[in-house]
Amino acid sequence: MATARPGRVLISEHELRTRIVELGRQIAHDYVGETPVLVGVLQGAFLFMADLVRAIPSDLTTDFIGVASYGAGQRSSGQVRIVSDLAMPVENRHVVVVEDIVDTGLTISYLRRNLEARHPKSVRVCALVDKIERRQVDVRIDYVGFTIPNVFVVGYGFDFGGLYRNLPYLAALDDTPA
Ligand code: IMP
Ligand code: MG
Repeated sequence: MATARPGRVLISEHELRTRIVELGRQIAHDYVGETPVLVGVLQGAFLFMADLVRAIPSDLTTDFIGVASYGAGQRSSGQVRIVSDLAMPVENRHVVVVEDIVDTGLTISYLRRNLEARHPKSVRVCALVDKIERRQVDVRIDYVGFTIPNVFVVGYGFDFGGLYRNLPYLAALDDTPA
């Protein structure tokens, strides 16, 4: 079992809720008269996706894409692969990619290219968390929930070795030996 445990709360349930309502309003405003497809990136974004779509009062559809970019630990393998693809074509659709966190940027730049090759009307990215200090590739993030320093976070969908996704808030991973 992992020895690293969730430590101090970085973003509380209340802060998450408030910010996600704002993001939802902004997205609804930007897509007036359109029916975008929100593409949740599994697994990390599953809770964010669920809360974000409920904060958007206008028409939309949903889909999911599963990518793997990490091994069991905290470091990116740098290699991104699709482990489960979208259920429906996105050709001629306005796509909003709903991602948990942008760290090095490798995952989202791969996804952007992959989705753009499917001839959508547009692709925008909404990330709950931006860890901007760690960026290795330049990527545009159209909607950002929170910008955080270089700390590994768990909870609210974010995992460490598969654990802690079920916490209702975002916590810093505490990996100091007991
Ligand atoms: P990137 O390709 O380096 O931008 O990494 C993006 C992916 O790495 C995210 O979608 C997460 O799944 C994972 N990741 C990056 N930082 C963290 C973190 O602090 N906690 C949990 N997962 C993370
Ligand atoms: Mg992810």
